[in-house]
Amino acid sequence: MTDRRRFLATTLAAGAAALPGVSCAGSAAQAGKRRPRIVSTWDFGVAANQAAWQVLNKGGSVLDAVEAGARVPEADPKNHSVGRAGYPDRDGRLTLDASIMDGNGDCGAVAAIEHIAHPISVARRVMEKTPHVLLVGYGAEQFAIERGFPKEELLTPESEQAWREWLKKSEYKPSANSENKTYGKGKPGDANNHDTLGLLAVDAQGRLAGACTTSGMAWKLHGRVGDSPIIGAGLYVDNEVGGATSTGVGEEVIRTAGSFLVVELMRQGRTPQQACEEAVRRIVRKRMKTARDLQVGFLALGRNGEVGAYAIQKGFTYAVCDSGKQDALFDSTSAM
Ligand code: GLY
Repeated sequence: MTDRRRFLATTLAAGAAALPGVSCAGSAAQAGKRRPRIVSTWDFGVAANQAAWQVLNKGGSVLDAVEAGARVPEADPKNHSVGRAGYPDRDGRLTLDASIMDGNGDCGAVAAIEHIAHPISVARRVMEKTPHVLLVGYGAEQFAIERGFPKEELLTPESEQAWREWLKKSEYKPSANSENKTYGKGKPGDANNHDTLGLLAVDAQGRLAGACTTSGMAWKLHGRVGDSPIIGAGLYVDNEVGGATSTGVGEEVIRTAGSFLVVELMRQGRTPQQACEEAVRRIVRKRMKTARDLQVGFLALGRNGEVGAYAIQKGFTYAVCDSGKQDALFDSTSAM
């Protein structure tokens, strides 16, 4: 997090009680009862939230809002973990994953899609225009092109240079970033460069939607798919309860059906914060003996606007946007 942003979060946390309409670190998880609200993962979630907020504020649907929000990091040339500037796989191919879901249970996703700049919008078309939930690889690309999405070369010179740096050693150690330290800094060849945009929104009527989009782990095996396009793993939303999304090592999130787990824990009465903590603890209990540096973070939004966030490692930031403030950014609490 930049110093300015960290200062902002700290200041807001300290001054929350005195600032009506502002949610903040301690209270973002407890505030509740405030709608509409948009939350998303990582520092780049601030800009995504703001785009989503504009849609919601003009009377757009939560689905329109989350799609608009997800398209922001997908288009960001500095973002090497989402969309067109994402780092490629081991073979130098950029493959993207995305999912979208509304609180009625409608959902769509694409996995390992190439040459299409906005996988979140293709995921929405899958949801709305097909009887299916998930299209993958070349089939997803063909579907997108048939629907009018332009076929593009997405690998940026910077991403290609980073891949060529990695090729010099070709160490296959895909891992998830726990500090978000490389966002916008483009450290060539650094494999610790992965995070995901997960975004959840609730409107004034308590209707929810969520979106999740990523280029996955840098230098992954071609064809590797993480949690982000898997409904119930990287994203789950239910109007009766709330929504959840995840970031970090997708394999661990898939193993625990992570976002579904968070929502089901909320259904059983946990707060969003308690639900995120329990989901992280399950991963820690089962997996941390073999992977001490593993990172997974969950972000949850209750149907009443209550927010929860928790990660295994320090460094997971999340952005909160509502009528009081559109650029709030917080550090999640963590197990380590
Ligand atoms: N969390 C995204 C991925 O593992 O691909």
